[in-house]
Amino acid sequence: MPTPGKTAAPPPPPSEGHLDITDSRTGKQYKLPITDGTIRTLDLKQIVTGPDDFGVMGYDPAFMNTASCRSAITFIDGDKGILRYRGYPIDQLAEKASFLEVAYLLRNGELPSQADYDQFVHDITYHTYIHENLKRFLEGFRYDAHPMSMLCAAVAALSSFYPEAKDIHDRKQRDISIIRLLAKVPTIAAFAYRHVKGLPYVYPDNDLSYSENFLSMIARMSETKYVADPIFARAIDVLFILHADHEQNCSTNAVRAVGSSQVDPFSAVAAGIAALYGPLHGGANEAVLRMINQIGDVKNVPAFVDEVKSGKGSRLMGFGHRVYKSYDPRAKIVKELAYDVFKVTGMDKDLEIALELERRALEDSYFRERKLYPNVDFYTGLIYRALKFPTDYFTVLFAIPRVAGWAAQWEEMLLDKEQKIARPRQIYTGYDERPYTSVLDRTKKV
Ligand code: CMC
Repeated sequence: MPTPGKTAAPPPPPSEGHLDITDSRTGKQYKLPITDGTIRTLDLKQIVTGPDDFGVMGYDPAFMNTASCRSAITFIDGDKGILRYRGYPIDQLAEKASFLEVAYLLRNGELPSQADYDQFVHDITYHTYIHENLKRFLEGFRYDAHPMSMLCAAVAALSSFYPEAKDIHDRKQRDISIIRLLAKVPTIAAFAYRHVKGLPYVYPDNDLSYSENFLSMIARMSETKYVADPIFARAIDVLFILHADHEQNCSTNAVRAVGSSQVDPFSAVAAGIAALYGPLHGGANEAVLRMINQIGDVKNVPAFVDEVKSGKGSRLMGFGHRVYKSYDPRAKIVKELAYDVFKVTGMDKDLEIALELERRALEDSYFRERKLYPNVDFYTGLIYRALKFPTDYFTVLFAIPRVAGWAAQWEEMLLDKEQKIARPRQIYTGYDERPYTSVLDRTKKV
């Protein structure tokens, strides 16, 4: 196997030029080197008005224009609608690769040889079982627990089952932790599904592929061997590939930030799951289906779109993206996949609503001017529902494959010599110093 350290972010290139800055407060001039189209925000610190001045900082709430790392994993060009993992276009991977090949690629930087792939698949297959106590931990949740809460808590709990994972500077420990994460998260996710349904948990079947085994743990009843429809198994595998990584999004940033404290990878990935749970991130696919249910009928689409535009209703869920300012390349693949699945399951009545929503929005100047196009979540929910997954389970289906990306990003962060514990600055806007007052003297109502 290649050494992940060798494929981590390359060293910074030499400066491409300078940014000349004149500080109007002091008249002083500064030359800030530009590399990779960026200036180092730390270079601004030298711009001071006097010895007590901390220096100029960058202010960038929500990281709209701040690169927090150098990464060699995923490339996105949001204007052109390009997504590549380690240089390979997402459409080629979705068409030709398996999810486990992609998981290997993300971490190691190269597609595996046959021998490496076989070993990787073997290792993952033989770590799919979870400790019986973790199973009992899952049994402790209420019948109506959200599966993302269960997944987040159970992945955090894995840290207590594998305390050796704390030894993050030992390559062997990182290897086994990443194998465990990739192998056990589908099992935990499937157990969470069965728990909510009140069904007995189905143990992993090591004769099956990653996606088939997941479907077996979800759907198997009394049959001795579960045989998944090959179209469904391939659909799950392709959806897993599409969701495997997406560079520095909210949850990956959470994994990197939490991981930068040098906590074990199970805890860092649990933070990523928590971030993904939110409706503006992975929760959007769930929100799309709820929105479609609320619309109820194609004839209600125009009124709904008007409400979105007025700003009084909700947003058009599954539309818009911080990075893509054109059609999300994943959305195109998912739309085609939806048709494949519907050929087996029959047409979903809500697809009609979704298609009409998309058509209207793409024609509307409100969405065009703001460059709002369907994102990956717009059609995934329809596929998940056609496969009979409950709506609140959709984000779990996003989280399972994203573990591959989180693990790769976590390790890249760890091996990057420039990284330290993540600790942003703030602009303090509160009171200056003031004396404590006794409760009896406090007249102002808060
Ligand atoms: N429907 C209606 N208006 C929207 C939408 C939307 N889905 N998204 C953005 N806008 C408007 C927004 O109101 C603002 O308008 P104005 O300039 O008049 O104030 C403008 O477009 C820019 O919006 P923003 O909030 O500044 O954009 P952002 O980059 O901060 O937000 C986003 C990105 C994905 C959070 C947002 O587009 C959104 O809320 N979309 C709906 C939720 C969704 O589908 N999320 C899934 C994201 S893809 C999966 C993932 O990677 O997690």
